[in-house]
Amino acid sequence: MLMHGMISVKGAEAPFYLPQGDECEVFELAHANELPLLLKGPTGCGKTRFVAHMASRLGRPLHTVACHDDLAAADLIGRYLLKGGETVWVDGPLTRAVREGAICYLDEVVEARRDVTVVLHPLTDDRRILPIDRTGEELEAAPGFMLVASYNPGYQNILKTLKPSTRQRFVSLEFNFPRPEHEVPVVARESGLPEDRVRPLVRLANKLRALKGQDLEEGVSTRLVVYAATLIQRGMPVERAIRAAMIEPLTDDADVKRGLLDLVTAVFG
Ligand SMILES: Nc1ncnc2c1ncn2[C@@H]1O[C@H](COP(=O)(O)OP(=O)(O)O)[C@@H](O)[C@H]1O
Ligand SMILES: [Mg+2]
Repeated sequence: MLMHGMISVKGAEAPFYLPQGDECEVFELAHANELPLLLKGPTGCGKTRFVAHMASRLGRPLHTVACHDDLAAADLIGRYLLKGGETVWVDGPLTRAVREGAICYLDEVVEARRDVTVVLHPLTDDRRILPIDRTGEELEAAPGFMLVASYNPGYQNILKTLKPSTRQRFVSLEFNFPRPEHEVPVVARESGLPEDRVRPLVRLANKLRALKGQDLEEGVSTRLVVYAATLIQRGMPVERAIRAAMIEPLTDDADVKRGLLDLVTAVFG
C-alpha cells in the first residue's frame, strides 16, 4: 500500500500554489458545503500541490492515497492485524480522515479496483457515512471531512475511466498546464532559476505539448520543466538538462527523440 499522511496546521504557511482561475474558491465552497471534489487533468500540472495548499489554508489534516491497480477497499478502510498474539483493528487512511474530519485525497482514483469506488458512494451523497463491514460500524463523517479525487482523462483506456455513476457524485474541476504567464513564475519559484532563463524552457514545453496525439502520448508536464530548470540552476548545461528532463522522459523512440531535439534547436538556436 502506497500512502503517506500530511498534517497541516492552520496559520502555518501553505505550500506555494499559484491559482490558474477560481479553483481555490471552488474548493473552499465545496469544503464548506460538504461536497466531494474531482480534479481532472494531465499528470504533473499541479493537482497534488493544489490539494496540499488548500488543506493547509483550511487547516485540515490531509491523508493522501496514491491509487494503483492493486489497491483494495481494505487498504482505504482498514483491516484486522495481528499484534502480539492479538488481532487489532487498524484504520486505513480513509477511515482516519472520516473520523478526524480531514481531507482524504485519492490520487489517480481510476487506477484503484472497482470495489474501492463502491466504498466511496455512501460517502459522497448527503448521508456522508462509511460502513465498515468487518467491524459492523457505520461511521458518520466528522465535520470538515472532504473527499477529493483526481484522475487523468487523457489515458484513453476504456477499462480506466470513471463510471458515470461515480463521476456524477463529484463537483469537478478541469486542470491543465498553466498558461506561460503562470508557468514561468511557477517554474522560477520552484527551481530558483531566474524568469528570463525559464521563459525559453516554457516556450519549448508548449511546442512539445502541441505534439500530443501525433508523436507523443502526453505532453511535457510542469513537473518536468521544474526538473530541467532545477538542473540548469545547479549548473548543468542547458541542452543536457533539457535532454534529461524534457526529452528522455517523453519517449523511447529514437526517431521521435531526434525530432524533439530539432525543436530544441529551433527554440534555443
Ligand atoms: N499552479 C502551481 N503552483 C505551484 N506549483 C505548481 C503549479 N502547477 C504546477 N506546479 C509545480 O509542478 C509540480 C507538479 O505538480 P503536481 O501537483 O505534483 O502535479 P499532479 O498532481 O497534477 O500530477 C509541483 O511540484 C510544482 O512544483
Ligand atoms: Mg499528483
